[in-house]
Amino acid sequence: MLNFDYYNPVRIIFGKDRLDAVNQYVPEDARVLITYGGGSARRTGLLDRVKAALGDRTVFEFGGIEPNPQYETLLKGMDMVRREKIDYLLAVGGGSVIDGTKFIAIGSDYSGDPGELLQLGIGSLSEETLGRIGSVLPYGVVLTLPASGSEMNNGACISYKGGKPLVYSEKIYSQFSILDPTITATLPKRQVANGVVDTFVHITENYLTYPVGARIQDRMAEGVLQTLIEIGNATVSDPANYEARANLVWGATVALNGFVNSGVPMDGTTHMIGLELTVLYGIDHGTTTGILWPAVMEVCRVQKREKLLQFAQRVWQICDGTDDEKIDLAIRKTRDFFESMGMNTHLSAYGISRENIPEILEKLKEHGMTAMSERHNVDLEMSGKILEMAL
Ligand code: NZQ
Ligand code: ZN
Repeated sequence: MLNFDYYNPVRIIFGKDRLDAVNQYVPEDARVLITYGGGSARRTGLLDRVKAALGDRTVFEFGGIEPNPQYETLLKGMDMVRREKIDYLLAVGGGSVIDGTKFIAIGSDYSGDPGELLQLGIGSLSEETLGRIGSVLPYGVVLTLPASGSEMNNGACISYKGGKPLVYSEKIYSQFSILDPTITATLPKRQVANGVVDTFVHITENYLTYPVGARIQDRMAEGVLQTLIEIGNATVSDPANYEARANLVWGATVALNGFVNSGVPMDGTTHMIGLELTVLYGIDHGTTTGILWPAVMEVCRVQKREKLLQFAQRVWQICDGTDDEKIDLAIRKTRDFFESMGMNTHLSAYGISRENIPEILEKLKEHGMTAMSERHNVDLEMSGKILEMAL
């Protein structure tokens, strides 16, 4: 197992009818800004329920945080924080609203351009940037979409200057996150499938690399993957199936909260190419991971061989055939699973053809994504092969 530091201060409040917890955990004298997205929270009545749970507190609203939250929108949120002297944020939404709220939390008192907080790839903030942060607003989360894992991690992904750079900081963990699976029942099927697939790929990007003797993480990863396979179709087709949805919600959170992804190598190839697909063509984040992951497994099958065989045997129970046949079947079953939930896993279905590949590679080059994967060997040529494979 590799060395790691693990720190996670997020209080998880899980289960049915848990909204009242905001009354317990948001300070009584807080000036609260509720942040939300394009309107689903208002349409479903969730916003009113959250406001009722906040009781007599002074409450403001900041709606309109779009999927793949835009930097310019979030600057407006920071203006509102300063203007209204907000001292607590409450994010009501999925990954985009939570990420946007994290950025508002860390950027509102930043002395300088908050864009300086954003960087490509995973890395620490420079001393100079850290020194400009000032106070970071505390915030809570009411999760409406299980997928990103943002409700229990310290990353945020923001649309900025033609890319999707990230901010990582221990300062942007939420104080509490309410995970009520029934709140997610209003999601369209497509978003639920996105959530299952994004979660699957968050796990496999940390599991399907090379063995480091991290048995605990491996068994946890395999447990989440098998659970997703068991409940994926049920939760897409039947939102009222509480057991299935509850397992998706918790699975999405544990996939990216450090349990499974500490002490193991990481392959960010799928996410890094996927972010470019979202920026260039507007494809949903979860769908980009479903398109790319089968192609990444195929193109990187030599370097991933041992873990691919473990994946085939332990997750898909494939025991017959040669090693290559087992790997072929595991990749095929993974793609079939994604497609069984209504997701098309081919770029061509989204109007993207061979002619588009150079512009995608150009973006990867511009963003310095020329040495990706657990082996740092996915250069532009290999990315081209992955994109060809994904057509
Ligand atoms: O905006 P509204 O009207 O609320 O509609 C949203 C949005 O259109 C809708 N929705 C959410 N909850 C709903 C609902 N509709 C009905 N009922 C509900 N209960 O769903 C649409 C998509 O929402 P979004 O938040 O964009 O989806 P998701 O949770 O998949 O988040 C995607 C974002 O997370 C980032 C992605 O890059 C992307 O920007 N990620 C963040 C990560 C992190 N912080 O650790 C890791 C992830 O890999 C990912 O990169
Ligand atoms: Zn993701």
